[in-house]
Amino acid sequence: MSLKNELKAHIKELSELETPFYVYSEKILKQYAKKTFETLSPAGEVFYALKANANPRILEIIRSFGFGADCVSGNEVKLARKMNFRRILFSGVGKTEKEIREAKNSNAEINAESLEEIELISELIPKSEIGIRINPGIDAHTHRYITTGTEENKFGIPLARSEDAFVFAKKTGLEPVRIHFHLGSQIFGQSAFLEALEIAINLADELSEKGVKIREIDMGGGFGISYENDKSEFLLSGFASEVKNLASEKYVLLFEPGRFVVARSGAIITRVLYRKSGSKNFIVTDCGMNDFIRPALYGAKHRVVQLSERSGRRTVADVVGPICESADFLAKNVEMNLPERGDLLAVLDAGAYGYTMASNYNLRCKPAEYLLKEDGEIVKIREKICPEI
Ligand code: LLP
Repeated sequence: MSLKNELKAHIKELSELETPFYVYSEKILKQYAKKTFETLSPAGEVFYALKANANPRILEIIRSFGFGADCVSGNEVKLARKMNFRRILFSGVGKTEKEIREAKNSNAEINAESLEEIELISELIPKSEIGIRINPGIDAHTHRYITTGTEENKFGIPLARSEDAFVFAKKTGLEPVRIHFHLGSQIFGQSAFLEALEIAINLADELSEKGVKIREIDMGGGFGISYENDKSEFLLSGFASEVKNLASEKYVLLFEPGRFVVARSGAIITRVLYRKSGSKNFIVTDCGMNDFIRPALYGAKHRVVQLSERSGRRTVADVVGPICESADFLAKNVEMNLPERGDLLAVLDAGAYGYTMASNYNLRCKPAEYLLKEDGEIVKIREKICPEI
């Protein structure tokens, strides 16, 4: 059953809850976690990127399939450790001294992103094994805010300087064992990944001649899903066998999917506050860009669907939030039957980078989160969080 139909089947219980709120389908989450893990794991080790959704109940479900954790902050590392993920990677362009020390205590494995960071790690955690993130200079053709692998981007060490960075790390006494890259997010084709993997394999082969023994190649995440329908998405299966063949038995591959695992399972549910008509029609809801920022920040086109059945006249309207910014919209030019005040709408595919990017802007609360369990029960998995007044 699609998320929309699952939600519709629970309209009565959902309409009793204070809006806006996130709700996740346990069934869909498990389907995607299983598919991601089972497809990628024959080709390498799979780490879930916590930044997409870090609710502990969601993490518990994901971890149970066998995923490791991919983290980008000290707090993500702490949570992953607390949740007993079997292996933890720690990437990020600006790790603090405190985060590096704590990573050691949590047994997290660091991917370093600059020469100065490598030097600092060698002082704080001497002789440890590390990964180094390279910037392969490859455009993955995605939104410019979520492209990370071109020379314009702040991430990793430029390819031309990568070999020296590994040799330098070795000289400081560290053991560089992993090449890391992450090309960006919402990628649909394999070619950028294959190109980057070949670059990493060549680098690893060259490094072995210089006495640096690379064991793993961490290919990052970025596997895309379409927000316009619930069918199109990155084809993981062909990809897994391609990359496995390329890496042969020489290198262990690592993957860091985030969105692909959780996006489809979640929606944010909002209530219609007012309708306004004019040369442009507006449906004003109680879900602001503080609750869900993807449409405002990336122009992402999420489907907004009506959970309350209406047979009234067809209308085309912008579905907007209550915040004093024109970027505060959920979707533009949505065709729907004119909803009534109080009706519930669902913004679909909001399970990834929804709650994790919510804020208290305008002194608003961060929304609560619920889990729609496989047995049909709806349980609260996080209270709404309001700023101190
Ligand atoms: N690994 C690294 C090092 C990353 O930086 C990211 C995402 C991932 C893995 C997971 O990427 P995914 O498989 O989820 O695409 N807020 C944006 C996405 C930012 C992604 C940042 N890094 C959005 O809402 O589209």
